[in-house]
Amino acid sequence: MASTRRRVLTGDRPTGKLHLGHYIGSLKARVELQNNPEYECFFIIADLHALTTRPKKADVLEIRENIREMVLDYLAVGIDPEKSTIFVQSAVPETYQLNLLFEMLVTLPRLTRLPTIKDMARAANIEEDKVPFGLVGYPVLQAADILLPRAHLVPVGRDNLPHVELTREIARRFNRYYGEVFPLPQALVPDVEVLPGIDGAGKMSKSRGNAILLSDDPETVRAKVMKIKTSPRRPEEPGDPTQSIPLLYHRLFNDDREEVEELWERYRKGGIKDKEIKERLAVALNRFLDPIRERRAYYAQRPEMVEEILVEGTRKMRQVARETMEMVWDAMGMYGAELARKLAERP
Ligand code: TRP
Repeated sequence: MASTRRRVLTGDRPTGKLHLGHYIGSLKARVELQNNPEYECFFIIADLHALTTRPKKADVLEIRENIREMVLDYLAVGIDPEKSTIFVQSAVPETYQLNLLFEMLVTLPRLTRLPTIKDMARAANIEEDKVPFGLVGYPVLQAADILLPRAHLVPVGRDNLPHVELTREIARRFNRYYGEVFPLPQALVPDVEVLPGIDGAGKMSKSRGNAILLSDDPETVRAKVMKIKTSPRRPEEPGDPTQSIPLLYHRLFNDDREEVEELWERYRKGGIKDKEIKERLAVALNRFLDPIRERRAYYAQRPEMVEEILVEGTRKMRQVARETMEMVWDAMGMYGAELARKLAERP
């Protein structure tokens, strides 16, 4: 029954095309949660959050394009709009409403102490005295995202844990002031390692230029694979397979387990060149990406269909959001909400 399913809410700022790191770190788990009948999944495209560091007109226009690319990637990896609700944050007016009410339930020092705000400001080249009010409020807005569908479970990367913790504090405080409306949401952090980029110099990220995109064509994937950083060694001598990025990628993306084992063994004993490992990785990765590319191309050719998916997802989210706001205003006993309801009933 729908009402007994535990709700999941997670999502991303629309930063553009997604890569293999996103797949391992979050997309894979999302598809699994979606296919588990115990959960009802909501995936938010957090375009308002993107505005917190990039509010200019040109940024807004770029966000438009990024939303499109990101939704294509969601659909490409198997997020299924028949099972999950994909929606655009800025199209849900209740987000702004709940955000403002939550702003009363958190102190300014609590927000400014969060290292995540400083990190985001630094990453966006914003000086300390130029931090927008909205960026300080980033985690409050995230709390509104999470609590609007009254989510129980929030799959996030480790870096987002402080925001889920703050969300729990806001929920607790709301419930204590006004009555039980919100469940206390739990973070779900993937236990997978972060995926290193092809330069071997840190985690895969588009801005570092070390990513293999889910939308890269087979030739690009091959070229990137051949460039993966490996440490110099003598191929005929024994090596430590856990130190090889191509072998790590094999382990994560190659569905031919026998091949993976063979490569690991030969690396461990000595007797295999990195070139062969990479050649076979290119084949395996392209095999993994082929169905993803196919689904992406299918939706890319049908923009009206993609838009309809977002319209429908946003409609579903707004319905849930209205329910929540009724509960919120009722619990608070806000007179303005009663007036607004009367107004809405008039012809
Ligand atoms: N803060 C997330 C990020 O790192 C994006 C996000 C916005 C989010 N709202 C959310 C994640 C709600 C989980 C739940 O980009």
